[in-house]
Amino acid sequence: MKKRIAVVPGDGIGVDVTREAVKVLEAVGQAAGHQFDLVEFDWGADRYLREGVSLPAGALDDLRGNFDVILLGALGDPRIPDMSHAKDILFGMRFGLDLFCNLRPVKLLHPSLTPLKKFTEIDFVIVRENTEGLYAGIGGNFKKGTPDEVALQEDVNTYKGVERIIRFAFDYARAHGRKRLVMSDKSNALTYGHDLWQRLFAQLAPQYSDIESRHLYVDNLAFQMVKNPAQWDVIVTCNMFGDIVSDLGAALVGGLGIAPSGNLNPAGISMFEPVHGSAPKYAGKNVANPLGAILTVGMLLDHLGLREEAGWVEEAARASLADGQTARDLGGSLGTREVGDWLANYITARYPARPVPTDRR
Ligand code: NAD
Ligand code: IPM
Ligand code: MN
Repeated sequence: MKKRIAVVPGDGIGVDVTREAVKVLEAVGQAAGHQFDLVEFDWGADRYLREGVSLPAGALDDLRGNFDVILLGALGDPRIPDMSHAKDILFGMRFGLDLFCNLRPVKLLHPSLTPLKKFTEIDFVIVRENTEGLYAGIGGNFKKGTPDEVALQEDVNTYKGVERIIRFAFDYARAHGRKRLVMSDKSNALTYGHDLWQRLFAQLAPQYSDIESRHLYVDNLAFQMVKNPAQWDVIVTCNMFGDIVSDLGAALVGGLGIAPSGNLNPAGISMFEPVHGSAPKYAGKNVANPLGAILTVGMLLDHLGLREEAGWVEEAARASLADGQTARDLGGSLGTREVGDWLANYITARYPARPVPTDRR
């Protein structure tokens, strides 16, 4: 199989972890006999500060037209406190490519990783709406900088946007043998927007009578996630709440260093990135955990239809954790590069290379 993959390492530890994710991707490609053509893009803070360019003109068309999938590291740099370049690039891709589902699995890969010692199995996915809500960028400041200032940030919930993410979550549950789905909102306080979530959820649930569906207010969800994380299969929620509960979810299974995610457009190109940010204090120091980025490669492979190869990545991750071959955030002593090497070597040793088929003429 031949695939073109756009790689955007981004800023800070995004660069460090993406290097290791690519190492593992290449090991998988060699082992399975796939040709992955990787094209790296230098979008990020350095280029923005140097040239004033964040997301270059024509970038989205290039991605749409010439690539099968995108791998992103992370964006964010203390030299650009308003995150303007990061918003252009990250939201540019999420909104511009209509990546309306942010899929964030919360899976316990080794029992030692959860701070909730009662639980040995945690395995659910957060389906986060990714193109609207409070992230729509609608609002403004009136009388800015004065004591009379008014700051508005609109929460945009569209029928189309809410309907498609709830439907996606139900379809995902059905396709992946997940039995339970919870829709979480704050309709008791956010009367207009989240009432729309309630109505659409009530409308769609009967079409999926094979899935046990329920509703929870998001404050209760946060509580229940910690109290009994084993009760979840699929959680669907809005952009803002999805952002928050996905960091909480990560904390339940080992932390931000190992949490992967996919930004999906089922009808177009999709983008994969770890849940974590650019963690500037760790940048370039060979300490960041690359497992989140590497497991993100697993999701990317699965998305490309390479389910078996995706399984190799998870298997390698589980093996490294079981063997204590971990980075500092998980209590180990390995550096970023050493974790990447360990996983790549594991795959190479366990799955001997298949030849890349040559084109028939
Ligand atoms: P962060 O995720 O970068 O880091 C928070 C903390 O989590 C770190 O201090 C560290 O203790 C831990 N951590 C995160 N990733 C880790 C890893 N791979 N290995 C080990 N430990 C890890 O969040 P932040 O500090 O709030 O944000 C830093 C910058 O990143 C900001 O500019 C923020 O806006 C940006 N950000 C970007 C993305 C993205 O690109 N998708 C996501 C979140 C934050
Ligand atoms: C994430 C991040 C982003 C978000 C930030 C960097 C804008 O926290 O991907 O979770 O809020 O979506
Ligand atoms: Mn976040």
